[in-house]
Amino acid sequence: MKLRCPVCGAQLERREGFYRCEANHCFDIARQGYLNLLPVQQKHSKNPGDTREQILARRAFLQAGFYAPIAKALCGLAEQYAPAGPILDVGCGEGYYSVQVEKVLRQPLIGLDISREAVRCAAGTYKGPAWICATASHLPVEERTIGTVMSLFALTVPEEFHRVLRPEGLFLQVLAQEDHLLGLKSIIYPQLLHKPKQIIPAVPGFQLLESRPVRFSFTVEGQQVQNLLMMTPHAYRIGPEGAQRLLQTQALTDVASCRINCYRPISSFTFP
Ligand SMILES: C[S@@+](CC[C@H](N)C(=O)[O-])C[C@H]1O[C@@H](n2cnc3c(N)ncnc32)[C@H](O)[C@@H]1O
Ligand SMILES: [Zn+2]
Repeated sequence: MKLRCPVCGAQLERREGFYRCEANHCFDIARQGYLNLLPVQQKHSKNPGDTREQILARRAFLQAGFYAPIAKALCGLAEQYAPAGPILDVGCGEGYYSVQVEKVLRQPLIGLDISREAVRCAAGTYKGPAWICATASHLPVEERTIGTVMSLFALTVPEEFHRVLRPEGLFLQVLAQEDHLLGLKSIIYPQLLHKPKQIIPAVPGFQLLESRPVRFSFTVEGQQVQNLLMMTPHAYRIGPEGAQRLLQTQALTDVASCRINCYRPISSFTFP
């Protein structure tokens, strides 16, 4: 796996306990086993990305298996389309999906997230993969070295994904569909706004191979109701009344609805 310096772009060499480039920029491997490649100039806040509370809620929810159908479909598509080569999971969170894809593809895994809490949690749970704190906007990865880039309920940066992928590479994207978690939304918001959403977006520099919908219902109870809220962007948007209504909700049956989009990079494409 070839990493590059997030400050000057030179190749990073691994030393005992740290990485270093030829210009002597040094990056420590944290005690917990993750590598911090997020320089202050690429941070827009002190602790960017998901908070510890969100990460722990997501882990509790995912580990309980509520979204196992998404992981299963993702692994099936990865097996079908992925070439050999390292996997890069951008916005990996606590690594639930990353390690399952690693297991079926049997390729080296890099899990990358801008949240230090996310990669700390992932590194504490799963030994072996490289867990890196960095931003998707400046991937600290060499050109054309990655077999599969994944972005699951996270952001897509076409130019960066195209740059790091090998020509025969695969980009796997999971996006929520419009009817995702309508049950939760109808409890926390006084009225639901209909916002049409482009769920098979045209990604510049990529050609769509397949777009597979995944839709299923599930029931959460007790603390898992709160965990479900905490792992979604609604955790930031909810008002006090919505929060109160959800606190009074003992059990919730909802529908998860997303789409897994599989793309290949277009080799001849140049970004403006
Ligand atoms: C909704 S979570 C999805 C996590 C994981 N992929 C999953 O599906 O369980 C989005 C993740 O993207 C991360 N994130 C947000 N902005 C980012 C950026 N600029 N670069 C890398 N990761 C980012 C957040 O910290 C968070 O962990
Ligand atoms: Zn450097």
